[in-house]
Amino acid sequence: MIKPDAYLAGNSGAIIKMIEEAGFRIVAAKLTKLSGERAGQFYAVHSARPFYNDLCTYMSSGPIVAMILEKDNAVADFRKLIGATNPANAEPGTIRKLFAKSIEANAIHGSDSDENATIEGAFFFSGFEQF
Ligand code: CMP
Repeated sequence: MIKPDAYLAGNSGAIIKMIEEAGFRIVAAKLTKLSGERAGQFYAVHSARPFYNDLCTYMSSGPIVAMILEKDNAVADFRKLIGATNPANAEPGTIRKLFAKSIEANAIHGSDSDENATIEGAFFFSGFEQF
């Protein structure tokens, strides 16, 4: 998911280009905007964290681009491509190093397991055509 900071800064195209050049195939894509409540549902796993309320406000502050991506070893390879959660710790050349503004407004989200990728994909897409 491309987050509001990256979308509003006009970086969606550059980020999608990096994703495709890294060998990911876009299987589904959607520009949408989360309400605070939907953002809270998406990040429910973090509901006990001190940053949860701010995160929900931020994630509903502008459009996001949701995507389902396909690749061998996709979860691990995507996490390598996006870099550490805190851009200050992200490797040079990663999406977050290039585009993130802060640990919260960190440009992009990637699923942390195959299981969560299935859950998060279903959160945005209810059945999609496979081209
Ligand atoms: P993401 O990978 O989408 O998963 C949870 C999100 O919470 C994370 O990226 C950041 O946007 C945000 N986040 C994680 N840790 C912090 C923190 N310490 N302070 C503020 N936001 C955070």
